[in-house]
Amino acid sequence: MGKPTWARLQAIKVIQQVNSRQAFVRPLIDSLIRTASISSAERDFAILLALGVTATSGELDLIIKRSIDTKRLDTVSRSILQLATYELVYLQKEAYVAVDQAVALAHQLKPKVAGFINWAMHRIIEQIADFPWGDPSSEIDALVHQTAFPLWLANRLIAELGWTAAAAFMHISNEVAPLDGADLTTGQSVSIDAEKLAKHQSGIAAGELIIADQSSQFIAHLTAQQTVLHPNCQLLEIGSGRGTKTVLINRELQRLGVDEFVHYALEYHTFKTKVLVDRIKVYRLRNVQPITADILLIKELIEGGMLPPGLDVVMIDAPCSGSGTLRRNPEIRWRLSTEDITAMSAQGLSFLLAAAPYVNPGGCLVYSTCSIFTEENEKVIEAFLDDPAGTDFILTDWRHSGNLADWGCTEQIVADSYFFHSQLRSGGPDSHFAAILRRRA
Ligand SMILES: C[S@@+](CC[C@H](N)C(=O)[O-])C[C@H]1O[C@@H](n2cnc3c(N)ncnc32)[C@H](O)[C@@H]1O
Repeated sequence: MGKPTWARLQAIKVIQQVNSRQAFVRPLIDSLIRTASISSAERDFAILLALGVTATSGELDLIIKRSIDTKRLDTVSRSILQLATYELVYLQKEAYVAVDQAVALAHQLKPKVAGFINWAMHRIIEQIADFPWGDPSSEIDALVHQTAFPLWLANRLIAELGWTAAAAFMHISNEVAPLDGADLTTGQSVSIDAEKLAKHQSGIAAGELIIADQSSQFIAHLTAQQTVLHPNCQLLEIGSGRGTKTVLINRELQRLGVDEFVHYALEYHTFKTKVLVDRIKVYRLRNVQPITADILLIKELIEGGMLPPGLDVVMIDAPCSGSGTLRRNPEIRWRLSTEDITAMSAQGLSFLLAAAPYVNPGGCLVYSTCSIFTEENEKVIEAFLDDPAGTDFILTDWRHSGNLADWGCTEQIVADSYFFHSQLRSGGPDSHFAAILRRRA
């Protein structure tokens, strides 16, 4: 029996925390794997394992459950079996390597389960001989096993996109997402080589480069292009978070030579506003007023003088399911429910309804999400336009404000629609949605 490799040991540490305390995988990868001084091949393999096991964990549990009695399975054993099963099923590793490494991990982490792990791995190997137990090109059960998606989510995707596009979406959601950024001096989108991330650190530290998905860069651009239409624009960004879009919008306005504007950045969480405040300095943002508050209290914020009574552009970066970003956030698919999607749609609509009365005639609302679901996107806009608060607003063609191809978003889910909805493509940006709603002048 060999020793467990560094990659597997680090990946197991991450997986155990994701399993035991519902932790998010990306910050764990950053603290336990990315910063380690180890060969890039070993580091990349550890990241692949941590992301891959998290993304496929529900399916891995199912395979384990089909193979052994899991009633009293402890977290260490579950994590080791998940990792080894992932290697067998999704990385097509040789069985002897997966078993040897699983047993070696057990010896290191919990020696008394080593014999059990060896036995369980052999049951799993028997069980997966016919994986995915059907034809994934035509049978939904086999497709969900192959792509490791919960059945309800796959059914929902198929209902919305059709079989072919949904299957493509599911496969692409298992790929490694590209790393993109924006050069804030030129406004150009740049592809970042993860291997050479260190090379880019000086640009980030100097406030000249920001890491951001290209779809999200495009939505920030749409917002900036609306802002320039209004002299002395009063711009409110709702859900500014840690300020990625704030940076992109503000620096685009500066590049365009727009000086007279106020950029209110409103966020519910203090810890996120703190990150934005640091970024204001690093990225040399101008005229930004960070506000930590609940947007549903907008009336009180205006009465208290925190916000002006009339706004020209209101950009809502709505809290959403994140279903367009599954490559980057692999835990989402196993934690999300249909009730969450409905609750987030209602929240998005409540933000639109709260802000709408304060939009000046001729001004606009820009509504955006990183979700694939119509319930969180088109349906929210339709419900808003049907509401008395929305009757004054008209859905506006986003194409007047930008050329998709400059941001690598070459495909729309629905072409020729007034809704912007970038399609998930292999090697391309995440799937984001935006709509521009203009108030009649
Ligand atoms: C999609 S995220 C924003 C991402 C951010 N704009 C960026 O570019 O990094 C949505 C944000 O809305 C914030 N939020 C949720 N409920 C809110 C509320 N009631 N009022 C204000 N912000 C809220 C969340 O904390 C979260 O940061």
